[in-house]
Amino acid sequence: MRIGSNLGVAPRIVVLTGAGVSADSGHPTFRGSGGMWEDRRVEEVASPEAWAKEPGLVWRFYQERRQRLVESEPNEAHFALAELEKRLEAAGVGFCLVTQNVDNLHARAGSAPIHIHGELAVLRCEVCGEKSRDLEHLDPEVFVPCPECAHLAMRPDVVWFGEMPYRVEDVFRQVGNATVFLAAGTSGVVYPAAGLLQLAREGGAETFVNSLDEPENLTGEDEFVPGRAADVLPGLCERLAHLVGA
Ligand code: OAD
Repeated sequence: MRIGSNLGVAPRIVVLTGAGVSADSGHPTFRGSGGMWEDRRVEEVASPEAWAKEPGLVWRFYQERRQRLVESEPNEAHFALAELEKRLEAAGVGFCLVTQNVDNLHARAGSAPIHIHGELAVLRCEVCGEKSRDLEHLDPEVFVPCPECAHLAMRPDVVWFGEMPYRVEDVFRQVGNATVFLAAGTSGVVYPAAGLLQLAREGGAETFVNSLDEPENLTGEDEFVPGRAADVLPGLCERLAHLVGA
């Protein structure tokens, strides 16, 4: 237990996941090999400016990713986190899963994460604000009209570069109250998510980090557990459960 930690406070685990957790399900990560698409940087496609200028290109990019949701399965990392959540709930220990991933693999493994960067499976109308869960319309060449106001076209309900992540205050509060914090499969470079590890540390949480490469925001105070999330998380979740007495 860290000196100055929230000793005596009710145990509470918060987990932050990133693209590395879905890598073993066949979803490319952003940094590294998966960082380019049709010779363009992801930042050039995932932005409000790109949507305004080249909506057809942006739509194709996202329809490829939405199609991948239908074709991929959760892996052992997703299942381990869902199991941990169930176990902690049964033991009366608080838990919160926050994900930067826009896929639906946590949910399909049985978790209910906070999607701070939105969800590919949800479409949103920029005119009337309507949101609809849709994995039916996957044609890369066909836009989807809004079912409410008929505006063409709906956009994916994901947070683009320059846009505000969802539920930031809620997430900051959750992480500030954590006694144990795990960041898994994230490079620790995209803020505000990358700041959560430090926030947890400052709040006195014991901090764990799993990734293939050492993330940018890792310090000597964090326990780094290298390796593929699908291999590492089942054992690590077991350890975390023990740590909080569940
Ligand atoms: P990145 O692609 O930046 O980083 C992926 C991290 O996962 C790296 O540290 C890899 O070492 C690690 N990794 C790769 N394969 C792994 C595996 N099998 N097991 C464990 N770790 C593995 O992904 P994120 O940090 O999630 O934002 O990226 C953050 C945000 O950047 C994304 O949510 C996205 C992007 O811009 C938006 O779209 C707004």
